[in-house]
Amino acid sequence: MSMHPFLTGSPHGLLIGGKRVPARDGQTLSSHNPATGEHLADFARGGVADIDDAVAAARSAFETGPWPAFTPSDRQALLMRLADLVERDAEQFALLDTIDMGSPIRHTRGSVAMLVDLLRYYAGMARGIEGVTANPSAADMFACTVKEPVGVCGAIIPWNGPLWASILKLGPVLATGCTLVLKPAEDASLAPLLLGQLALEAGVPPGVFNIVTGLGAEAGAALAAHPGVDKLAFTGSDATGRAIMAAAAGTLKRVSLELGGKSPNIVFADADLDKAAQMAVVAAFANSGQVCSAGTRLFVERGVAEDFARAVASHASALKLGNGIDPEVDLGPLVSARQLARVSDYMAEARAEGAGAVCGGARLEDDAFANGFFFPPTVLSGATDTMRAVREEIFGPILAVLPFDDEDEVVTRANATPFGLGAGLWTGNVGRAHRMAKRLRAGSVWVNCYNAIDPAVPSGGVKASGQGREYGKAHLEEHLETKSLWIATD
Ligand code: NAI
Ligand code: MG
Repeated sequence: MSMHPFLTGSPHGLLIGGKRVPARDGQTLSSHNPATGEHLADFARGGVADIDDAVAAARSAFETGPWPAFTPSDRQALLMRLADLVERDAEQFALLDTIDMGSPIRHTRGSVAMLVDLLRYYAGMARGIEGVTANPSAADMFACTVKEPVGVCGAIIPWNGPLWASILKLGPVLATGCTLVLKPAEDASLAPLLLGQLALEAGVPPGVFNIVTGLGAEAGAALAAHPGVDKLAFTGSDATGRAIMAAAAGTLKRVSLELGGKSPNIVFADADLDKAAQMAVVAAFANSGQVCSAGTRLFVERGVAEDFARAVASHASALKLGNGIDPEVDLGPLVSARQLARVSDYMAEARAEGAGAVCGGARLEDDAFANGFFFPPTVLSGATDTMRAVREEIFGPILAVLPFDDEDEVVTRANATPFGLGAGLWTGNVGRAHRMAKRLRAGSVWVNCYNAIDPAVPSGGVKASGQGREYGKAHLEEHLETKSLWIATD
């Protein structure tokens, strides 16, 4: 796949002030295909000085030049043009994410289509930003609120959905009139860079969208601590989220965090068990488990638990693993050798603690898998709530089946985690659905579905899964300040 047109531009520069530039110190990083080990391209390893340049460009674009004069109508039109260009180049984007981070082309094609729709949603939202006429009790006072863009935004994103995360950060920035410095993940920087090219083509003014590729500890840490950044959005691990919040504290910038989880997926015996079993597989193994809201703790009512685990294992074993460039492939490799080692370690520890694998359980190394980072979908049996593989986010295709006896018990166990991103619930009893949904501590509860997502519906976490919301009106609010305007009328 080294014939992808974008790869010919290697080494890829940073995008700062509308220009593609090398890192100031000239250093680069490399991108590899995790299915084959093949070298794809080199790209700039930005550092502190490059972040300074990018933040300065973003500040200047926020305050001067054409951008502050863009009306809501102008911003909407710009977002519509960008959506059209992403749609035009959809196949290029899908291929690029597939070869850069391994996600199957079936999956990345579907993602691009949803992202075009997401951009069009933000285009509409650009016209719907409004304050309120307030109602003070003083007789001679008029008061209203005005919404203003928060300013220069920083965004640090992970590798599990590179185009997805880039568009999710850029959309509300353009809708509200903010500017952005994006730090892609070092394991998957190519699609964000291609998006940067399309943004220029769409007419995004120089400095409104800047991209500094590089390492977390260098470019990422510099962006989080930068005094010129008004708001920082981070998606990734809870450990890095803590470091980012600490780095941001020095400048008191606004911070939003989406930090993954260990989401419960709860199946009662009164559910449509065939559908629940099929969806439990998607919930846990889509994108090879590299999904923040993966349903990795599968609680099943005890009477049906054994049969249900077998059904899940049989659906999981039917999934086709391989190089995601093959349109028949359901599951690609893990993103990196490091991620493969991490997943393998969790598996080894689960075995040492007494769990077994109903299916999967070890890295695939034969023939077609030899040069990639392939780990098959794995269903653990004999797992308990206290095992590390059942408590911590693995970010790989490992699912624990955990039998339960009643509602109170399963609510307590489902909530006994530092995380709270999503929760799945399968039942044919509408009263139970409402009772349970109320008691589950999670940002999203999915009843008889899992991982439903829509531009208009907010998504985010409680507890250690983060703060702030993305998608929906709530996402726009993260990018807006409320100014109160008082006028004495006497
Ligand atoms: P990470 O959270 O360290 O990396 C995410 C982003 O943060 C990358 O762009 C990285 O360069 C940046 N970063 C890293 N350290 C930083 C720092 N000190 N300051 C500023 N930015 C920094 O995640 P990583 O190392 O790629 O994966 C490790 C584990 O994290 C995974 O196994 C998974 O459990 C979890 N993870 C969760 C994600 C989610 O969406 N919930 C996404 C990616 C990883
Ligand atoms: Mg790669």
